[in-house]
Amino acid sequence: MNVAVFGSGRGSNFQAILAAKKGGRLDEVSISLVMSNNSGAGILEIARANAIPAFHVSQKQFPSEDHYADAVLELLQTHNVDAVVLAGFMKRVPAKVIAAYRGRIINIHPALLPKYGGSGMFGIHVHEAVLQAGDRESGATVHVVDELYDHGKILLQERVPVRADDTPETLAARVLTVEHRILPEALARLAARVHTGVKH
Ligand code: GRF
Repeated sequence: MNVAVFGSGRGSNFQAILAAKKGGRLDEVSISLVMSNNSGAGILEIARANAIPAFHVSQKQFPSEDHYADAVLELLQTHNVDAVVLAGFMKRVPAKVIAAYRGRIINIHPALLPKYGGSGMFGIHVHEAVLQAGDRESGATVHVVDELYDHGKILLQERVPVRADDTPETLAARVLTVEHRILPEALARLAARVHTGVKH
């Protein structure tokens, strides 16, 4: 299964996918390309260091969202991409891309969806909200991407305790270790489903 990874930041979740691949846990997955809206993103550097085609594609480069959507779709189709992983991608996936890859775009979110999801709930803001609410646990979620933020079918979740002395940063770090476990696992399960689908 050919996979495109979209990210906007340092790329630690992408690194976890590469480590899982090196560990033989993603033999059915080939990383075809990495795309970022941020030309300086660490995730693009990691791709280049691993000889994976790295593309800076941003809506700002296009006269309209529709031109941007067509460019993203063109990039995916010319690389025969079967599925997309959002690994810290801070932009909305265009509707026509979601439609073309229905059920085959997955996202990692640093909270126990459906709680603490939706617009504005990203990065450190998520952990601030969990602490503000006084929750005793948090965690990470891998879900299918649909037209609404953080809304699609939940594929995998893992919980972590919230400690009394937690700061948003210490909680974020604990959740991140879970993200690095469940995203590769969810990708392996998606590949197994897609390959099974191909066989029949
Ligand atoms: C992760 O916390 C992820 O849950 C969120 O953005 C962050 C990306 O981190 N969507 P990284 O770029 O994978 O290190």
